[in-house]
Amino acid sequence: MSETATTQKPVSFKELGFVNTREMFQAAMKGGYAIPAYNFNNMEQLQAILTACSRSRSPVILQVSKGARDYANATLLRWMARGAMEMMKEMGKPVPVALHLDHGDSFELCQSCIDNGFSSVMIDASSKPYAENVALTKKVVEYAHPRNVTVEGELGILAGIEEHVSSEKSHYTDPKDVEDFVKKTGVDSLAISIGTSHGAFKFKVKPGEKAPPLRFDILEAVEQRIPGFPIVLHGASSVLPGYIEMINKFGGKMEGTAGIPEEQLRRAAKSAVCKINIDSDGRLVMTAMIRKVFSEKPDEFDPRKYLGPAREELIKMYMEKNEKVLGSAGRC
Ligand code: G3H
Ligand code: 13P
Ligand code: ZN
Repeated sequence: MSETATTQKPVSFKELGFVNTREMFQAAMKGGYAIPAYNFNNMEQLQAILTACSRSRSPVILQVSKGARDYANATLLRWMARGAMEMMKEMGKPVPVALHLDHGDSFELCQSCIDNGFSSVMIDASSKPYAENVALTKKVVEYAHPRNVTVEGELGILAGIEEHVSSEKSHYTDPKDVEDFVKKTGVDSLAISIGTSHGAFKFKVKPGEKAPPLRFDILEAVEQRIPGFPIVLHGASSVLPGYIEMINKFGGKMEGTAGIPEEQLRRAAKSAVCKINIDSDGRLVMTAMIRKVFSEKPDEFDPRKYLGPAREELIKMYMEKNEKVLGSAGRC
């Protein structure tokens, strides 16, 4: 489904009803909370994210990865996102929503997203040598800023799968680099590596064991060097044990996994961390609920009967995140 109409006229995010991340981050910094950045690939996830954030009055960043864009088709995705904004308006007073490219890996991809109504893009050149990371990030900023689109860069590499880069070990961000990077590139926010990790298999743990604590010392050193600058945490799913249990109970096999403890995310959200990325927890909720329906009703074959309950459970989970983890509920 990756073919895309390239003849379309560029569309600005404002026409689609989105906002960039600038004001969101300023408010989050002042208020001691973080904006949720939830990934979506399909209609049910998109509905759930916007319904949950509208109900909990939380600003939100709708995140689309390169893989999600290929899966859903770039043109359809743009209209889906626009349709979701219209749906939210009908639900009452809309909350601020940014449409963000997650882990953009080239200038061309970022450019295409900007021309297709994204209000924010990430250029992830963190696996390249420092000078290349600076040059590519700066190039994206130079295209984005005249269009009022905000840009996230990254320094350091997370463990786990980071788009097409897979790393067994974290390469923590070196606080010495951050000032230079921010100054030379002009980015609006910076993703750093302090021990979070992508995916559902972040850390191998034995039953009852917890994940190793995040490196708050690195975060503090970064904050000292670039005070008041918005920091982003990727790989921040908690791999919620209740859903892992449900998956395993209903025929799945996901053992020895652990995510980032919620209290550590809450602590991070109170600092300069203004954006927290969560994808895997949503995937786990959907999988757990679909497995449950399939197991309890083996004759069920109407997708609405298993995607519907999955969507309801997603709404519940996102609302809990906004209220108890990010602190973003009731902020708009
Ligand atoms: O950080 C990566 C996100 O979870 C997106 O994953 O590339 O499989 O869509 P994806
Ligand atoms: P998780 O895999 O922990 O949900 O991280 C998602 C993410 O960082 C998206 O960019
Ligand atoms: Zn990520």
